[in-house]
Amino acid sequence: MKILAIESSCDDTAAALVEDGRKVLSSLTSSQIKDHKVFGGVVPEVASRKHIENISPLVKCVMEEAGLSFSDLEAIAVTYAPGLVGSLLVGVNFAKGLSIATGLPIIPVHHIKSHIASLYLSNKELKPPFLCLVVSGGHSHIIEVRDYTNFRILGKTRDDAAGEAFDKIGRRLGFDYPGGVNLDKVAENGNPNAFALPVPLKNEDKTYDFSFSGLKTAMINIINGYNQKNIPLPKEDISATFRKSVVNCLVNNFISAAKDFGYINLAIAGGVSANSLLRTSLEKECKKRNWKFFKPELKYCGDNGAMVGAHRN
Ligand code: KG4
Ligand code: ZN
Repeated sequence: MKILAIESSCDDTAAALVEDGRKVLSSLTSSQIKDHKVFGGVVPEVASRKHIENISPLVKCVMEEAGLSFSDLEAIAVTYAPGLVGSLLVGVNFAKGLSIATGLPIIPVHHIKSHIASLYLSNKELKPPFLCLVVSGGHSHIIEVRDYTNFRILGKTRDDAAGEAFDKIGRRLGFDYPGGVNLDKVAENGNPNAFALPVPLKNEDKTYDFSFSGLKTAMINIINGYNQKNIPLPKEDISATFRKSVVNCLVNNFISAAKDFGYINLAIAGGVSANSLLRTSLEKECKKRNWKFFKPELKYCGDNGAMVGAHRN
């Protein structure tokens, strides 16, 4: 079964053609980073307008790249939620129009479920059940993937998402949007123990939830201290310390949920799953325990169309 998949939940317009849920025939993303960079973050109104400009030519391109016509397809999958409402509307209405014109049925796809499905593209042997850490700009969830369509959330952030916290600190350090990507690179040359940061929720018994807003405030206070004294910011050390603190929270809760619920197959997904420290730390933790660890290829970590087509309803 070949399907056209469309993703427009935030600032990337993406489309793909996917066969039988696991084979990507073509996948293209039109990034809006340059349009939002000047504002230091995504401007919803700008994002919607750019999606409108991009979506039609992008779909035409994926069809041409795969050498397919609409009569070769069986359905149109489209992200319906969660995300920026104006952005989602563009993808959903485009899919509806195309459905009326071609007679193809629409498959509405949940964005977080499609991040989980991105794992099936890069790991052909992966099958539920497994425990998945979904970390993106809007979410930080520990999810039991009991079956392809049966999920249970064990823990989630009570305030900021991990990606959001990375982006905010990146912005304070003067990095281009999205700050998380640049912070990860700069952190490689810093000392991860340069500053003492609080450990969020450390006094709570048995929670798999996260909280990143206190950590972010503590880091911002350190940054403000340097700025007030007119001392140049040690960007490498700040990046490395903040990255380590966030990754420690994610890894500790994830490993402890896996132990408590008896999971030996672990996976990560979402934009922040591209983080180099998160990938290597979980790789190490799983290896130590003889557990299996699955991650998406870097091209499928951030928002993309292929993961929408990989979803199984
Ligand atoms: O999944 P995604 O593309 O969009 C959402 O669904 O939110 O995730 C985007 C987030 C951004 O916050 C971005 O800074 C973060 O993923 N991100 C990273 C890295 N690459 C992308 N955060 C940390 N380290 C990275 N290497
Ligand atoms: Zn996403």
